[in-house]
Amino acid sequence: MATSAVGRGLLRQIELARARTDQLFERLKSGALYSRPIPERHRLIFYLGHLEAFDWNQICRQALDIPSFHPEFDHLFEFGIDPPVGQAAQDQPSDWPSEREIQEYNKRTRAIVDQVVEQAPEQVGNVALEHRLMHAETLAYLFHNLPYDQKIPVHVDPIHSALQPSGRMIAIPAGEATLGQEAGKFGWDNEYDQHRVTVPAFAVGKYKITNGEYLKFVRAGAKPPHFWFDRNGEWFYRGMFAETPLPLNAPVFVTYAEAAAYARWAGKTLLTEAQFHRAAFGTPGGEERDYPWGDAVPEIAHGNFDFHSWDATDVDQNPAGDSAFGVSQLVGNGWEWTATPFGPFPGFQPFSFYPGYSKNFFDEEHYVLKGGSQRTASCFLRRSFRNWFRPDYPYVYASFRLVEN
Ligand SMILES: [Fe+2]
Repeated sequence: MATSAVGRGLLRQIELARARTDQLFERLKSGALYSRPIPERHRLIFYLGHLEAFDWNQICRQALDIPSFHPEFDHLFEFGIDPPVGQAAQDQPSDWPSEREIQEYNKRTRAIVDQVVEQAPEQVGNVALEHRLMHAETLAYLFHNLPYDQKIPVHVDPIHSALQPSGRMIAIPAGEATLGQEAGKFGWDNEYDQHRVTVPAFAVGKYKITNGEYLKFVRAGAKPPHFWFDRNGEWFYRGMFAETPLPLNAPVFVTYAEAAAYARWAGKTLLTEAQFHRAAFGTPGGEERDYPWGDAVPEIAHGNFDFHSWDATDVDQNPAGDSAFGVSQLVGNGWEWTATPFGPFPGFQPFSFYPGYSKNFFDEEHYVLKGGSQRTASCFLRRSFRNWFRPDYPYVYASFRLVEN
């Protein structure tokens, strides 16, 4: 599993993560900061303050008891929001501070964090680092939904994606899967306790379901996914910086509800969390691996992750990342919806310094996603990492594959 952040120099890791989120904000044209590209999330200006306020609150205030220089901002930027879809916040741009005030707060916070972070408990440092990297991805969802004229584009190679219909199912024999993180290694509270489960035999799609396959479902009457739009009777894809004809061999990004409806239509189901583990990390010999391809650290040949690409690539692009059973892209190129509601593992204990991180979402209204997308940092490809979203939240880079039980 991944070395701890402290082992690799925590401050250096935090600096790299800051550069990652700073580069994202640099893609915004002036004025875009006060827009709200996703109705169920805060305006972008919140996130400019949130990343630093989180570090302040966790490292400086809670762990090291350093007196605040700006309690109002510490509180204003403390937490994001996740209301049911359709229940948007009602604040106005004028309710938020100026960009200049927030940048001053950020600069001062970073200077203090730099001086003290190595004195904080290792776990808190890792939480701050991974929190920022998670936002590097969720900010990408927000930016994806901004109109193109509010973003400064980067060069993106045009996508050539021809449909390669497969539908091939791979048999996975019954066996054991280890869920969760080993005690003593870093993970979020919901990754503990590590435990083993028995998984009966099943068959799973070698590839994620593609836009081309989903198109048949839409032609049969299903609602098109959020990332698609129709122009004069032809389907196009809304990419991060440009529209393209629908990339037929790339994974379709859908909600849980859409993925589950497609599976029913196809007479199949979605992976459970345990089946995902078995297909991704299990082997015919019975031992388990750190990643689908083995124990080697994640590299670009293994999959589409770690910010190399802004959009999805074809589903058959990464044979070097196949699992021991030959299943492709279980990690990268789109999170995978599972049929498992997000809930606690046996022995779950909330983090005392961030009790709501997971517990607030154990409500049967969020589902577990595994794997990772093109905008997921490599550290989250660890086997035990669990992501979760509401079943009708359409903005995530989230894909799925089919299962026969
Ligand atoms: Fe956050």
